[in-house]
Amino acid sequence: MTISLHTWSGADKVALMALCNAVDRTFLSDRLPYPYTEADADWWLGMVTENEGKEGVWRSIWADGNLVGSISVERRDGDEHSMGELGYMILTPWWSKGIGTEAVRQMCRMACEELGVELISATVFVGNRSSERVLEKNGFRLEETKAGTVVKDGKSMVVRRFVLV
Ligand SMILES: CC(C)(COP(=O)(O)OP(=O)(O)OC[C@H]1O[C@@H](n2cnc3c(N)ncnc32)[C@H](O)[C@@H]1OP(=O)(O)O)[C@@H](O)C(=O)NCCC(=O)NCCS
Repeated sequence: MTISLHTWSGADKVALMALCNAVDRTFLSDRLPYPYTEADADWWLGMVTENEGKEGVWRSIWADGNLVGSISVERRDGDEHSMGELGYMILTPWWSKGIGTEAVRQMCRMACEELGVELISATVFVGNRSSERVLEKNGFRLEETKAGTVVKDGKSMVVRRFVLV
């Protein structure tokens, strides 16, 4: 299987909406709107174009010619500006084929080169074992388990923070 990351463009709007409306949200925070509207896609694609290479690196994930997911590293705020936060999602029919692992591998290298971040972290809900495996297979290590920083369905969640130094 060929797995590659591509920059986002306006031509991806329909695929972006389809991805964000279909993705399994069990372990995603309230940050991703639902339903995901054309206005959400327009805003997000504009934000990505404006900030690409400066405040973050955002890519679509392609497998054998299909847009199957999204992945990014965004710069953290304030004192943590030299650190990046990794996030990713893949459509359910494409799970457990190694796509997440390969996308994270490519994205971490890209984020170090293009953003110059010194450390990449990822925040995972307790129970999201497949996401933890993707991180572990890329050399991330569990740093801490904490509550109170991420909200889902209006409730504060317990999360695990992984770090790749
Ligand atoms: C997390 C996610 C990106 C994983 O992508 P993927 O392409 O399936 O990942 P991979 O195939 O590269 O690896 C998955 C690993 O998890 C394992 N796995 C899958 N389901 C599992 C489960 N229920 N329990 C334990 N391990 C599981 C697989 O066996 C594989 O590990 P292995 O190679 O050691 O066998 C994908 O499930 C997803 O998009 N989920 C919804 C959004 C999400 O949770 N994003 C992450 C937020 S932190």
